Amino acid sequence: MEGSEAIRPDKYTEAGHTETGRYLGAFQRVERRGDTFVLRAERGGAAVLFPADGIFRIKFFWQGEPDLSSTVAIDPAFRQKSESGIGLEETGDRVILRTSLIALEIDKPTFAFTVRDKEGKVLCRQTRLVCQPRSGVHAVYDMPQDSHFYGLGEKSSFLDKRGERYTNWNTDVYAPHVPEIEALYQSIPFVIHMAGGTSCGLFLDNPGRTEVDMRTHADAFTMGCSTGDYDLYFIAGPSVKDVVTRYTALTGRIELPPKWALGYHQSRYSYMDQEEVLELARTFREKNIPCDVIYLDIHYMDGYRVFTFDPLRFPDPEAMIRELRGMGIRIVPIVDPGVKKDPKYGVYREGVQQGHFCTKLEGDIYFDEVWPGTSAFPDFTDDRTSKWWGDLHSFYTENGIEGIWNDMNEPAVFNESKTMDLDVIHRNNGDLKTHEELHNLYGLLMSKATAEGLKRQLDNRRPFVLTRAGYAGIQRYAAVWTGDNRSFWEHMALAMPMVLNMGLSGLPFAGPDIGGFAHHTSGQLLVRWTQMGAFFPYFRNHSAIDTLRQEPWAFGAETEEIIRKYIGLRYRWLPHIYNLFQEAAATGLPVIRPLVLEYPDDPNVTNLCDQFLLGDAVLIAPVYRPDTDHRAVYLPEGRWFDYWTGEKLEGGRHILAACPLDTMPMYVKSGAIVPEGALAQHADDQTDGNLTFHIYGAEALSGFQAEYSLYEDDGATYDYRDQTYSRLNVRLEGQEGGLKLSYAYAHRQYEANRSLLRFKLCRPEFAPSGVQGLPAITAEQLGEGAEGWHVDGEGSLIIQAADRPSGASWMITAAN
Ligand code: GLC
Repeated sequence: MEGSEAIRPDKYTEAGHTETGRYLGAFQRVERRGDTFVLRAERGGAAVLFPADGIFRIKFFWQGEPDLSSTVAIDPAFRQKSESGIGLEETGDRVILRTSLIALEIDKPTFAFTVRDKEGKVLCRQTRLVCQPRSGVHAVYDMPQDSHFYGLGEKSSFLDKRGERYTNWNTDVYAPHVPEIEALYQSIPFVIHMAGGTSCGLFLDNPGRTEVDMRTHADAFTMGCSTGDYDLYFIAGPSVKDVVTRYTALTGRIELPPKWALGYHQSRYSYMDQEEVLELARTFREKNIPCDVIYLDIHYMDGYRVFTFDPLRFPDPEAMIRELRGMGIRIVPIVDPGVKKDPKYGVYREGVQQGHFCTKLEGDIYFDEVWPGTSAFPDFTDDRTSKWWGDLHSFYTENGIEGIWNDMNEPAVFNESKTMDLDVIHRNNGDLKTHEELHNLYGLLMSKATAEGLKRQLDNRRPFVLTRAGYAGIQRYAAVWTGDNRSFWEHMALAMPMVLNMGLSGLPFAGPDIGGFAHHTSGQLLVRWTQMGAFFPYFRNHSAIDTLRQEPWAFGAETEEIIRKYIGLRYRWLPHIYNLFQEAAATGLPVIRPLVLEYPDDPNVTNLCDQFLLGDAVLIAPVYRPDTDHRAVYLPEGRWFDYWTGEKLEGGRHILAACPLDTMPMYVKSGAIVPEGALAQHADDQTDGNLTFHIYGAEALSGFQAEYSLYEDDGATYDYRDQTYSRLNVRLEGQEGGLKLSYAYAHRQYEANRSLLRFKLCRPEFAPSGVQGLPAITAEQLGEGAEGWHVDGEGSLIIQAADRPSGASWMITAAN
């Protein structure tokens, strides 16, 4: 017999969405309070703020007063600047707010908006705003025919996201990462929309489930959330670079990492004991394969209890770490959030007794299964718990550890939903929220607690934190690796658009597991992947427990030799790479860049993602298919130099590049300067010595110009914040019949450990006949450190001179 359940009301009504305007009721008035404009309707309304030039924030509220607090995504250092000159106009059906850059028109009946630039051109049009009380708001935006989409953080598929639909819900995806997967470990609800020659960004600051759909409608895309507030930031361009710069001003930029974190990292799930780790380190040194870091995966712990070492496998971690440091190698251990339920385990006991774990509303601790078995999960939303967690890291730092690897922090849980129950309560410093509302913050807050704890303990040294999960703003606390990929050629290719879009989403310090994590790599795949990885911001080889070994020497002498060469190249290029990290820290622009960032008007590059730029002038074209000795490369406008052969190539066309296994095609743009350092075995070994500025395409003609600004510091501490850094500017300027080469220190409070500087005009477009003020020297004299100039067998001019604080300049003369 059926009961009343048979006629439940939700069986008959469509759970449809309602126009937000209808839900809010009729528009009533605009109230201005300083730089905040509150548009009131019968019930609730919208608050509009202008926190910086080219950015506005619109946040809806359904009753009472608007809540203008922000999530942790917004950098506390971001100064919400009140623009004094905002003009307010009202017409019959519109409220218009005008700044020096944009005009925002809000439609009174619907609350939807249109943004125009100063000339009146539409930059963004929200056409519909629908809501369902308690289950989110979805907005519909115009999508012109020439729209392209970038950003969105860590997503599968190609660079241009048009035609895709994504969910932002941090998820542990071990199943292969394929295009149809809508959610991975990171959630960055930020999309860059490029259309009609301009770009703008939309950032929906909501750490619950959000979704961006660029597939379903032919001429519209949608961006919505399922819980919480529709708290939207519009970010003006006009260029993609402007959008990225503004977005990273809002959500923060990376801190300058310690240099060692930019070296080569070796990992495996797991290096099983102390002896294996030491042997691994010795092998790197014996084989002269540079390496800075070895990771300890979960087997280092005592029964997977975080903040412990297994007493049998790692009887003397302190001695092991000391011995490794003697070899220039650091240890980075994994730390997961799950704390084993074990009343005899101190961290668990303390967590329970001090009330640090997540609970249900009724007060019961939430337990679930992860590696250690039944576990409890710290509630990082509470500052008190974050501090406790951060302080626990003295266990590692007292052993000489300076870097931590945060994993499983979506949080991943071994249950059907793969994560924490949605009704778990987060204390959130007194403003209780459900896990459903804050899910995407868990990983970020764990890494924040970790980074802050390490900083408290490391006495002015920079920590390194690596994380799997994160939310917008994670860049302020951690580098990101892209989780459990596989040793598939397809996954190597997939890493390019993924990491490039992460760079456009404020996360420049990112990379995949080199060689692939799950499945079995091959020598060829490892070579190709390492070649590419040598130029990715984060460079770690990691593999899973039951897979073929994939250390650099695992596949014999030929592959080992090529891998040694490319890891070595990473170290020689470290001065340039570190410089790019400094730029990322200062401006938010990514270290590796899709071509569309530098050539936004070139229609050939809107979805080009099997090649990328390192900085703005070095083009890297990895080989991502097996048994391939040629590949197509697109060279954008200008003249390019083949890095390996020196061949000059005119751009604006595709070329077919030869790429035998030991060659990954690389090109440098004419007029670019790339500093190369010495081949070091680890980053601290580099000691700033032997710096050569490679200058490409020098022409003895007026109009030719090449410039580089090199940033240097101790690579280890925060002293740079007290001005202890140096900035060395190099300039080469063509003139009739010669060139003027000069260098000067714009700032020199850090003294690099070197006495000489070298400048190499790589195969210049003229025959050098002399350098005024310097003698001609032989190759031997050059090697012995003499000052002078020398033309090598390839026709490159090398100038060597003392590195003087006062700088120097020389005229280079050209033979007629
Ligand atoms: C997860 C991580 C992986 C790690 C493994 C064991 O799968 O993504 O990198 O090796 O857990 O800790």
